[in-house]
Amino acid sequence: MRAQALAHAHPAVTYAARSAEHIPLPDASCDAALLFFVWHHVADREAAAQELRRVVKPGGKLFVQANFSDRMPDTWWFRVVPEWRRVDQGQFRSEEEVKRDFAGAAWTLVSRDEVTWLRSASLTEDFERLKLRPVSMFEHMTEDVVEAGFARLARASSLVTALRRRREQYKNPSAAGQSLWVGVRDWGRGHPSQTCVTHVIRP
Ligand SMILES: C[S@@+](CC[C@H](N)C(=O)[O-])C[C@H]1O[C@@H](n2cnc3c(N)ncnc32)[C@H](O)[C@@H]1O
Repeated sequence: MRAQALAHAHPAVTYAARSAEHIPLPDASCDAALLFFVWHHVADREAAAQELRRVVKPGGKLFVQANFSDRMPDTWWFRVVPEWRRVDQGQFRSEEEVKRDFAGAAWTLVSRDEVTWLRSASLTEDFERLKLRPVSMFEHMTEDVVEAGFARLARASSLVTALRRRREQYKNPSAAGQSLWVGVRDWGRGHPSQTCVTHVIRP
């Protein structure tokens, strides 16, 4: 990941090696820290929470963006391949566990938000990106499970394309049949991924 970031390096950014458990920065040197989909990868969470507290100034903020095992997002591919959802869920901690991780290092939770963003402009684009296996759940599955899921998704996405075409043939959408119309509209809404942001402030 760092090598890829360096290949597109921004002049205002320093790309330092090490980990959340060993941050190569002096005490109280940061106004804020952001962990974006990182917390479920950290092996020594206690050390990382302490280390973040060391480098963030008093009054500074830590933003933690994470999925939680008890608040999994309603991602479209999980509707088609529920066994992938179970694997993905297994990677994450519950919201209470994450809160405890930081409370244990004397961080205070000051706010919590749920955000939705548009990951791709269309279902087709989102599906093409998914085929690159950009998320770590694929590392926790056998190749058979991955391929069976993609085969089912391919069948489902051609069905959706056919349904969309059929919908366009109707002047009055309700004439297409309510369940058909509702199904197609749901799929076409933009495929957002919903996650939680936890803002934590140092006392
Ligand atoms: C899902 S990626 C997210 C990357 C990036 N934040 C983004 O949103 O594109 C998880 C990242 O966590 C990093 N990571 C894993 N263990 C870590 C640790 N102990 N400390 C800091 N980063 C870690 C991995 O190198 C990987 O880049």
